[in-house]
Amino acid sequence: MASTVQCSAGFATQPPRPGHSCRFQQRQRQGTLVSSARRDGQVRAMAGASMDGRAQQLEAPVAVVTGASRGIGRAIAVALGKAGCKVVVNYARSGTEAEEVCREIEESGGTAIAFSADVSIQSDVESMMREAIATWGALDVLVNNAGITRDALLMRMKRAQWQQVVDVNLTGVYLCAQAAAAVMTKRKKGRIINIASVAGIIGNIGQANYCAAKAGVIGLTKAMAREYGSRNINVNAVAPGWVASDMTAKLSHDIERKALDTIPLGRYGKPEEIAGLVEFLAFHPAASYITGQVLPVDGGLSI
Ligand SMILES: NC(=O)c1ccc[n+]([C@@H]2O[C@H](COP(=O)([O-])OP(=O)(O)OC[C@H]3O[C@@H](n4cnc5c(N)ncnc54)[C@H](OP(=O)(O)O)[C@@H]3O)[C@@H](O)[C@H]2O)c1
Repeated sequence: MASTVQCSAGFATQPPRPGHSCRFQQRQRQGTLVSSARRDGQVRAMAGASMDGRAQQLEAPVAVVTGASRGIGRAIAVALGKAGCKVVVNYARSGTEAEEVCREIEESGGTAIAFSADVSIQSDVESMMREAIATWGALDVLVNNAGITRDALLMRMKRAQWQQVVDVNLTGVYLCAQAAAAVMTKRKKGRIINIASVAGIIGNIGQANYCAAKAGVIGLTKAMAREYGSRNINVNAVAPGWVASDMTAKLSHDIERKALDTIPLGRYGKPEEIAGLVEFLAFHPAASYITGQVLPVDGGLSI
């Protein structure tokens, strides 16, 4: 279920209801709409050329980034916000961190709201998309980033470990993509970027659930690209290798050393290096003819 983390700034008299955005952020958002206008112009040119190809977009694009409170999602939300997007910073449990992400975006002149929603719960996802539309009247970019691991060798993997990973990492992408595509179809434009993993391409010991879910995301991406191409909606996947985040911080020193040995570039990726490609796919005019692709950002791991 969605988180009920209390907004930290003291404006809220009650904890936010599950699946609802933080009131503090709504106040902040209204206060920064004007200041973000200079940024809007920057993205307007990029988005107008890339998303429609014929007409300039009048408003700054609206982006939903799932799992944006920490790690790669955080870096993506900040990059899109700094580029001028209005960003829905989705989180499941880390409300305080999500508020910090919004603050960072707003300090750089962007606009953001935090929204608590579990991507594996359909009603949460629908509330989140409704909130984006109700607040900003559009949805231009969806980044499906939320993900979890529950590692175990297959011979010991419990049904719950399998199910949790599939529910969040694959069903969550299906639910968010379907809900966003319904909105994008009406406007005949949009970009959906799914964060898969190189593990879904080459496999990884102890991650059968995760590899299967990420391989599923790749198949979903390709099918969606075919179904929605005629609606001018581009759907791509980014497949990171090992990236420094809370997800990889919990790995043992031994696993980390073995992982580093396999990476031609000899180091973990940085969240910002994933965010850079996502930003390109979300806005850049050169990305408007890219769809159904899986783009590894893995230091050469999958060569
Ligand atoms: N790190 C890597 O090496 C690596 C490599 C390849 C692919 N990836 C993929 O990249 C994505 C981000 O990974 P990361 O390393 O940044 O992970 P992370 O640091 O553990 O962050 C995960 C994010 O997902 C959110 N999340 C988890 N369950 C959720 C749910 N049910 N609903 C909504 N949000 C949820 C978390 O929010 P809360 O904190 O609020 O729960 C958090 O913001 C994942 O899809 C992961 O599989 C990571």
